[in-house]
Amino acid sequence: MAVTPSARISVDLAGAPYEVRIAPGLIDRLGEEIRPFARKPRVPVVTDAQVAAHWQARVDAALAAAGISASWLVLPPGEATKSWRFLERVVDFLIAEDIERRDHVIALGGGVIGDLTGFAASMVKRGCGFIQVPTTLLAQVDSSVGGKTAINAAAGKNLVGAFHQPALVLADPVTLDTLPLRETRAGYAEVVKYGLIDDAAFFAWCEANGARLIAGDAEARVTAIAHSVAAKARIVAADEKELTGVRALLNLGHTFGHALEAETGFSDRLLHGEGVALGMVLAARFSVRLGLMQGQDAERVAAHLRSAGLPVSLAALGLACNGQRLADHMLHDKKMDAGTLPFLLLRGIGQTFLAKDVDLADVAAFLDDELASWSQARNAHP
Ligand code: NAD
Ligand code: GLY
Repeated sequence: MAVTPSARISVDLAGAPYEVRIAPGLIDRLGEEIRPFARKPRVPVVTDAQVAAHWQARVDAALAAAGISASWLVLPPGEATKSWRFLERVVDFLIAEDIERRDHVIALGGGVIGDLTGFAASMVKRGCGFIQVPTTLLAQVDSSVGGKTAINAAAGKNLVGAFHQPALVLADPVTLDTLPLRETRAGYAEVVKYGLIDDAAFFAWCEANGARLIAGDAEARVTAIAHSVAAKARIVAADEKELTGVRALLNLGHTFGHALEAETGFSDRLLHGEGVALGMVLAARFSVRLGLMQGQDAERVAAHLRSAGLPVSLAALGLACNGQRLADHMLHDKKMDAGTLPFLLLRGIGQTFLAKDVDLADVAAFLDDELASWSQARNAHP
């Protein structure tokens, strides 16, 4: 009989180490898994309506089996929920539930619910506990681990937030069975990111196994999630608060990606993971333009992401703006440092580094050329 793959990875942070458990079927054992963290017979759970439609009954049953009942706050799905308005809703909910500092709220959902609930937990009673139960591929490989929590502000993405680590992360790949294909593909971009950062062998694994993973293969899912979480845990343990430049590597593709998300109004015109995919391709092409990376390596990155159904050119977005406008969005990036924007560039696949001397005027000119090459192609093949 085939053994069901599973993994346990610890995030070794001084003072607050925690475990990421990855196993098919974990959702049905939720009650027993969280039992040591539940001091009361009732736990608050925050989720969104789409996740609730698929998983609320299963979670209720799993909690009930351990003698725990859930009180639910079900929010609208989508990036717009990462906002002041819904932060207030979560905070009021937790206070109404009489949550105390040593209690835990469960965040059941994707990165939106995890970021929002984690941020609310960081401030209620000056900080209460939270448990991440990620249900998107993106959240299982990235956002549920590492303690970055945030909401978006009018000026840009994730501009208001806190570092607040979860007490436990429970990632059940089975929950991905109900995830729409487009969301699975978007999450896959963050998997590929770990290969591009510092692990060329894992990028090659992605080239060989990405299609299987996206199609829902159980073994490929656990391998990819465990590998990604282990990589992230290493990086977060080395630089929890993004102070030394090590954790900044996790932002590969995000500076371009966030500018594109801002230009498309943080809407489903461009999902976060799609922005990261396109952002990584742009970072690779910009690195080629600066003479840092071989053109064939950049095209290998684009070819793989394209084969995974992700956007790899600005053409996909049909933007009506110029490069300067996109560069202007970058000025609101929270990574701005003394008026300059540290930029993640590549010397090759698995060789990402932080450059502090990138001129935003060069970035704007590069983006103008990328936008023009798209309109030339469109005019040649109307
Ligand atoms: P999301 O939370 O919006 O989820 C995507 C969609 O999938 C939503 O409509 C949701 O309702 C639905 N969904 C979730 N799980 C489902 C399931 N199992 N079955 C069916 N539908 C399901 O988006 P996301 O891609 O998970 O996360 C994106 C967010 O994460 C962004 O706001 C981004 O900034 C943030 N993020 C944070 C970090 C971090 O370190 N904190 C890292 C990466 C991304
Ligand atoms: N997703 C980037 C980080 O966690 O640092």
